[in-house]
Amino acid sequence: MDKIIIEGGHSLKGEVRISGAKNAALPILVSSLLADGWNTYTNVPGLKDIESTLLLLENLGAKIERGKNTVRIDASGLNNPEASYDLVRKMRASILVLGPLLARLKEAKVSLPGGCAIGARPINLHLKGLARLGASIEVEHGYIKASVDCLKGNSIYFDISTVTGTENLIMAAVLADGVTVLRNAAYEPEILALADVLNKMGADIKGAGTSEITIQGVSSLKPVSVSIIPDRIEAGTFMVASALTGGDVTITDCRSDHLEAVIHKLSLTGTKVIIDGSNMRVKGPDKIKSVDVKTLPYPGFPTDMQAQFMVLMSVACGFSIISETIFENRFIHVSELRRMGAQIKVSGNSAMVQGVKKLSGAPVMASDLRASASLILAGLVAEGKTEVNRVYHLDRGYQSIEAKFAKLGAAVKRVKG
Ligand code: EPU
Repeated sequence: MDKIIIEGGHSLKGEVRISGAKNAALPILVSSLLADGWNTYTNVPGLKDIESTLLLLENLGAKIERGKNTVRIDASGLNNPEASYDLVRKMRASILVLGPLLARLKEAKVSLPGGCAIGARPINLHLKGLARLGASIEVEHGYIKASVDCLKGNSIYFDISTVTGTENLIMAAVLADGVTVLRNAAYEPEILALADVLNKMGADIKGAGTSEITIQGVSSLKPVSVSIIPDRIEAGTFMVASALTGGDVTITDCRSDHLEAVIHKLSLTGTKVIIDGSNMRVKGPDKIKSVDVKTLPYPGFPTDMQAQFMVLMSVACGFSIISETIFENRFIHVSELRRMGAQIKVSGNSAMVQGVKKLSGAPVMASDLRASASLILAGLVAEGKTEVNRVYHLDRGYQSIEAKFAKLGAAVKRVKG
């Protein structure tokens, strides 16, 4: 298995281009199932999760053509309603095919995703919503079996704001009979991006990007040509890297309006963020100030940036509290950061971080995608050598991260396992 080796102590300087957003690309690629004909997607990031999605779509009967960061999909041959355990276990987001399969084939058999390192992650709200649209749903032998004669619009209230739950229901409702209203819907930018693509395909979705989304069902959709929005979490990760290393990094091709909470918190640490159109110049402070952070649904501080921000707080001047309110077990990186000298105590869903002067390089183990990124960040400021093991998590969500860091002056290399 590959490892990433980092020699800490280099201040980052230069420019880094942000790739297309994983969490926007996944539902958008899946939305190709909703129309016959060739869809073209550009700015698709080169990631393991994208490969897993394409394999799944191919398995369902879609034809795929690949170019560099371009993907073409034609789902005219969609004929298999089953997403097998082998495909779903590689990536939980595979659950996103449930809505489109019901809409197109009137049946779906999708392996129930298990929990993962960061929490139990149930999908009860996806299933409850689809049942409100008229689907019969059974869960047996580890599979969700769903069928319907005709999906019918209805009002659906989400008890908890769920990103992929909202996306699944939007994709089921676009071809349903009548009007669907989603209340307490999630409004992450990736949801608006999906709704924009579906509207371009001929859907009638209003209110995406707010907590109430109204979908008037249509009889069919047509294929599209679209570009994937920039990855706000990748951008945020590089912003923290610049802040952490006292760097001066210009992040290009990004959307600062998707990062307001992160920019706000970074400014409170003393980091300067200068926005110029789709570029952001991030200058790290001489002394990092401690700031409390609580993760919340968008537009609050993203849970996907919590681990990275914790590294920044680990070397800040003072004490901070980081509260995780989205996932119940998203502090697995803490024990690895402690092995590098960080002073962090966890109590319930809060981590108490006392900043230290220096972290020290150590061999560490990545447990999930964002935790992996946080360990690389820690390695950038640690004294000596850090060896991050199990980096396959990283390859699920960051395109060429070590090459991007190396271009900014970090001493980072991948060792093939
Ligand atoms: N939840 C339920 N029932 C449901 C659905 C969700 O109780 O039916 C709970 C979850 O257990 C969690 C909360 O609701 O406590 C929010 O989960 P959500 O459904 O919003 O998460 P998700 O859709 O599974 C997406 C991203 C995650 C990101 C979260 C939160 C994708 C493919 N994944 O997950 O991204 O952390 O939203 O913003 O969009 C990552 O990229 O590293 C990642 C984990």
